[in-house]
Amino acid sequence: MELPVDKIPKHVAVVMDGNGRWAKNRYMPRFFGHKAGVDALIRAIDLFADRGVQHLTVFAFSSENWKRPADEVSGLFGLVMVAAAKYLESMVSKGVRIRIIGNREGVSEKLRAAWTQAEEATAHNQRITVSVAFNFGGRWDVVQACRRAMASGMPPDEMTEEAFARLLVLSDVPDPDLFIRTGGEMRLSNFLLWQAAYAEMYFTDCLWPDFGAAEIDAALASFASRDRRFGGAESWASGSDASG
Ligand code: FPP
Repeated sequence: MELPVDKIPKHVAVVMDGNGRWAKNRYMPRFFGHKAGVDALIRAIDLFADRGVQHLTVFAFSSENWKRPADEVSGLFGLVMVAAAKYLESMVSKGVRIRIIGNREGVSEKLRAAWTQAEEATAHNQRITVSVAFNFGGRWDVVQACRRAMASGMPPDEMTEEAFARLLVLSDVPDPDLFIRTGGEMRLSNFLLWQAAYAEMYFTDCLWPDFGAAEIDAALASFASRDRRFGGAESWASGSDASG
């Protein structure tokens, strides 16, 4: 079913949960699930772009994921390196702009170089912007914004919601309209805490590697059916600004 353009979210944020269970269901190691998760992400980028979504932000590695077993952490880091090499060319040709958001400290020089290469190679692409949150936490983002404000000597009176939002990592992207979490859990897990203030929430039991066209269309149809009021009495159908 084709949805009207004004009912398509401009920005979708996704917590890609369930890779481990997907692998376990197949008697395979967790890494196998993460690998399938990368394939699902590459597929999802195309599907969201085809449907008119302009920004996709995905949670690939949280500030808290360091608590996982060392072999899983290094496996995830290796996977991102391999994915950057394997898919960069197709991302360039498909018009996908890639950017990495998160704390670059604590990440190897090699990985930082791969990110910079991916960002530079896709910088002029316009079909969809994919922000990959890696070593990211919503609280980290708030703290780094505060630190920058304080370091600049900003007078307290000048700090407003708009000024603060400009210091956050997604400052140049509209707030997410739709927040999807796969894998059955219903929590934010320290993802885009500030930016998701008015996002419509969509939770599904579908495990991330199984999240394909039918599931994406179900999420978008659910979003289109929501009555967005942004804290006011007016619904978006009667003219509210859907950018949040
Ligand atoms: C959650 O599943 C998933 C993650 C912690 C990692 C998600 C990462 C990817 C899909 C790879 C991203 C890669 C690139 C190139 C950006 P889980 O392990 O918590 O699954 P479980 O809840 O079933 O245990």
